This record gives sequence, C-alpha cells and structure tokens, in this order.
Amino acid sequence: MTFERLRGFRDLYPEDAEPKSWAFSIAQEIARSFGFRMIDIPSLESLDLYRLKSGDELVGQTFSFTDKGGREVTMVPEATPSVVRMLTSRKDIPRPVRWFSIPKIWRYEEPQSGRLREHMQFNADIFGVDTPEADAELIGLAATILDGLNLQGNYDIRINDRKLMENLLHKMNINNISEIFSIIDRFRKTSHEDFSSMLKQSGVPDKTVSDIVSILEHQINRGDLKNYLSSYIDIDQNLGQTIDRMETTLSIISQYTNSRIYVDFSTVRGLSYYTGIVFEVFDSKGELRSILGGGRYDNLAKLISGQDIPAVGFGMGDVVLELLLKRAGLWKSSSDKPRYYVCTASDDLRKEALEIVIELRKNGFIATMDVAQRNLSAQLKSATINSSDYAIIVGKKELETDQVTIRNMSDGTQQQINKMKIVNEIKKMKRHAD
Ligand code: HAM
Repeated sequence: MTFERLRGFRDLYPEDAEPKSWAFSIAQEIARSFGFRMIDIPSLESLDLYRLKSGDELVGQTFSFTDKGGREVTMVPEATPSVVRMLTSRKDIPRPVRWFSIPKIWRYEEPQSGRLREHMQFNADIFGVDTPEADAELIGLAATILDGLNLQGNYDIRINDRKLMENLLHKMNINNISEIFSIIDRFRKTSHEDFSSMLKQSGVPDKTVSDIVSILEHQINRGDLKNYLSSYIDIDQNLGQTIDRMETTLSIISQYTNSRIYVDFSTVRGLSYYTGIVFEVFDSKGELRSILGGGRYDNLAKLISGQDIPAVGFGMGDVVLELLLKRAGLWKSSSDKPRYYVCTASDDLRKEALEIVIELRKNGFIATMDVAQRNLSAQLKSATINSSDYAIIVGKKELETDQVTIRNMSDGTQQQINKMKIVNEIKKMKRHAD
C-alpha cells in the first residue's frame, strides 16, 4: 500500500523548506523593525466567525466540519477575523496596535499555479487608526519586505479605494454594489466580452458597461486621478476627498520604495469586509497570481464585537512568493554560513571531536560530526555529501601539539590550526577569504 499526498498540499524538502523559512525570517525581521509584534492564531475556529465576515466565496472554500461536540468548525481560511477576535477580546491592549502573524491557511480551491489548498501567510495589520499615514505604513511594510528579499523591479503595487468605487458606481446609478464588485474582481481574469455580459446580466445599461470597461482598463499614476475620472463623471466634494486621500497615501508610499505603484480601478478584492483603500501586489511581468493583498476594514471589529476599531492590513502567501523568488534566482538557503564537518582519524578521538563541534555551535557556526561510528574516509565522503565547506580532521599525532587539520572541501587545500583557539582561527580564515 502506498500513501499519496493530498491534492493541493505540499511536502517541503530542505531545498524548499529552508529558502521559505529564510524569506519569512526576512519578513519577520522587517516587520519587527517597523515596530510590529508577533501573535499567533488557532488553526481551528468557529465557522460562524468566517461565515459572517469573510464573504460567501471564502466560506464556500473552507475545510469545515462538525466536531465531536456538535460544533461547526473550520480550519482557518484566512487570519483576519481571528486576529480581530483576539484583539477585541482583550480590552487592556493599548492602541494603535501593530501585529503580525505567520499562520497556515486552508482553502478548498482548485489547485493551480500559485494557488494551493494549504499555504503559509504572512499577515500584518495596524488597528486603531484611520489615516493615509497608516495605510501608507502598511503598504510601505509590504514593499520594504519585498525589497528586503531583493525583489525590487520584480513587482508592481496596484491600489484602489472601495469608497471611491462605490461613489463612482452610485453616480452611474448602480446600487447593487457588492454584486458589481464581485464582477469587477474578475475583470483581469475574464475576457472583455464575458465581463461585459456579466455586468449586463446584473442590470447595468450598455453605455455604462462600456464606460466601466474603459475606466477599469487603465493604470493611473499619482497626480492624474482627478483628471482621469473627470472625463467620466462629476467630481463632487465626497469623491474629491477620497481621491485626495488616495493621492496623499500614494505620495507617502513613494518614500518607502522606488517600486512601481499605480491606481487600478479593477482592484476591489474578493473579501467582503474591506471599506476603504485596497491593494494588491503582482509580479511586473504579469505572469503570476497576486503576491499579496490587503486593505482597510473599519467595520470588522464592530461586526465581531460591537467595538469601533479601524484597521488596515495585508496577507502575503508563500506560494506565489516562491515562484517569484525562483524566477528571480533568489530562492536560496536560509543560511549562507559555511558548514563544518568534524572528522576523527580514529574512534577514540570522538570526545575531542565533539568538544570542537560544541564549541563551534556555541559560537554560531554550523558544525556536524559523524554519529554512525564510521571510519575517516566514510566521514569525509559524508562531509562531501552534506555539502560541507570545511572538514576539520582530529588526529592523534596533531593533537599532541593541540593542532587539528582543516581541509577546504572545494579545492582540497588544508592547513593546521590550533584546537584551543579554533573559533578565532576560523574567523581569521573567513576574513581572509572575504
Ligand atoms: P487574500 O487576498 O485572500 O487576503 O490572500 C492574501 C494572499 O494570500 C494572496 O495574495 C496570496 O498570496 C495568498 N493566497 C490566498 N489564497 C491562496 C491559495 N489558495 N494558495 C496560495 N496562496 C494563497 C486575505 O487573506 C486577507 N485576510 C489579507 C488581509 C490581512 N487583509 C487585511 N489583513
């Protein structure tokens, strides 16, 4: 009998698990440098928490079941409702709050490139402030993380505002806003014909359909928003304020990153709780699905707990990030530190070898030794198989004068170093090589 992995799930071997961990450690480090604190959420939640707040599409994709106590529960399909539940259940946490988490997420989607049934998601949110500065800080964090992964030039940030879109659609006499949003969300995934016929089926008149298609098609740069929209509709005070806020946010974001950022009216996001700015990051070649997405959601805390807490945040999955890093040649191991393999010339030297291994590990080096009681030539073979950069050979004769041999595994050169000062000697060699 053989067991196969379930569809949409991954087995991660070191060559993928290590670079993934490296990428998320960079994200973590950068979030901490922005003052974000780490939290963790449960993997299982009450289905109701998601049923009410995330929208029908996501609830339809949950891995949910009735537990042994008869409760309807779900593996979390996203972090946001859980994070809000956590925040609102504690009144003692001073706001604004900056939190990040890195949970696993489960969605019963059709597995395809960039979309699986289980993924890891880096989430960051700011609670308690509703300002363009907070919006920009969050998008700035996302960009700084991608830049920190050396992805500058490989991605574009698309921004929109749901309030602005609502206003725009109302002005076009459209009132079934959430239905139209879910159609707009598919704009870049369907042909113009199919998109137009979906709008028409939802009661949008022909002339308005062609205006919407033409508004959604273009990418608008900072400073051009009012001009662009005024050719389609009147810009009243309300709309003017939303546009000004977006312009302010865009100008602040440009301080964080040189990456390409533009307004894209087709970005409305699939999740139903967003209330203001929404954004998505895509690879600049347009080949992959979204790398990350988020937005402002000022009503979710009220829906969950009755408390009024404005919020803005984003989630970045590991699946598209991996594809992008691989494409850019940046899918690398979590550590570029050299690896040392300590070998013994005879079995009675294991104690001395282990002392060296422990000393190296204590000083932050990667050090291994044989635990299979093999002879020296088998140990050296193992050092090669394990991609060790150096073998340190402990021999009886050399030990009499406190010396060990260090062999560079790539060119075979070797030298004697003092065992008592091994850490300093290695550091000296490393400085020399750098
Ligand atoms: P989302 O757009 O559903 O937003 O997901 C965010 C990111 O998670 C996507 O851009 C993608 O990188 C990744 N992702 C989503 N679904 C899958 C999947 N099936 N397979 C692989 N990766 C996937 C949210 O989840 C919001 N809760 C984000 C947020 C946080 N909004 C505010 N705070």
